[in-house]
Amino acid sequence: MIRKGIILAGGRGLRMSPLTLSVNKQLLPLYDKPLIFYPLSVLMSIGIKRILIIVNKGQLKQFRKILPEKNNLGISIKYKEQAKPGGLPQAFTIGKKFIGNDSVSLILGDNFFYGKNLSKILRKNINLDSGVKIFIHPVKKPSLYGIATIDKNKKVINLVEKPKKTNSKFAVTGLYFFDNQVINLTKKLKPSKRGELEIIDLLKFYKKLNKLKAEFIGNGSLWLDTGDIKSFYRASNFVSNIESKKGLKIGCIEEVAFKNKWINKKQMKNAINFYGKCNYSKYLQSLIV
Ligand code: DAU
Repeated sequence: MIRKGIILAGGRGLRMSPLTLSVNKQLLPLYDKPLIFYPLSVLMSIGIKRILIIVNKGQLKQFRKILPEKNNLGISIKYKEQAKPGGLPQAFTIGKKFIGNDSVSLILGDNFFYGKNLSKILRKNINLDSGVKIFIHPVKKPSLYGIATIDKNKKVINLVEKPKKTNSKFAVTGLYFFDNQVINLTKKLKPSKRGELEIIDLLKFYKKLNKLKAEFIGNGSLWLDTGDIKSFYRASNFVSNIESKKGLKIGCIEEVAFKNKWINKKQMKNAINFYGKCNYSKYLQSLIV
């Protein structure tokens, strides 16, 4: 059973410059909340209470202002800095102590997931005892993502990072469930041509061991890597539309905590005080009357 989650929230954010020159991408507003609320809410929605957030060197203060360790969410948040963005698998060297002897989930801080049945699908896979589980979703431009070729039994035949040409349209989304072996396998990785450790190479190790499994996030689910302006605003518009149409909030971390019974009305009131007078607080208030 996976009980721990790492959010990788560093990176250069180069594709979003100049917006990201002074602000970390994950703190930019995706409609009415900082981007990081969305991946955090995904982890929380599947019952993960122990969270490590990895940020760029020098950015701890910014993050702690929004997501303090002493939070009103009933969860444990810890932080670690990444000296420089050396690739996604660094999450497992930086997070070694946090992971301990357990299995762990990794979610990329710029990934947006939405779907009615999403947490149900994810929860079905959370009892991972060995290996790695990846979550795949069809995309229009495979050259932008890690791509998995699968057979009709969802067996992964091939994995390529940002292929120029491929016959597969299934992207490997930025959510992964790893067993504890990940710490040792990461040590064997060598930097790629672009000088980074690649998550795809790590997944290939698991594939070789016959320990890689893929699952669809579901037809009714939406997944966006919000790493460039267009997809960032697409996700932002999506949230705005759904929230105003349905009168609900996506990525409302306090709501997830409240529904999970991790916080009570009193803690919800603390959260309202923490944010001050704003629409977000009004929404939180509406949940406890
Ligand atoms: O979004 C899914 C894709 O994410 C996968 O399909 C690819 O296989 C995977 O390599 C990754 O590709 P990206 O090119 O989108 O990764 P990016 O460099 O944009 O980093 C993703 C997030 O991780 C982003 O929020 C920044 C953070 N990050 C990235 C690196 C390289 C870190 O915190 N530290 C890092 O060293």
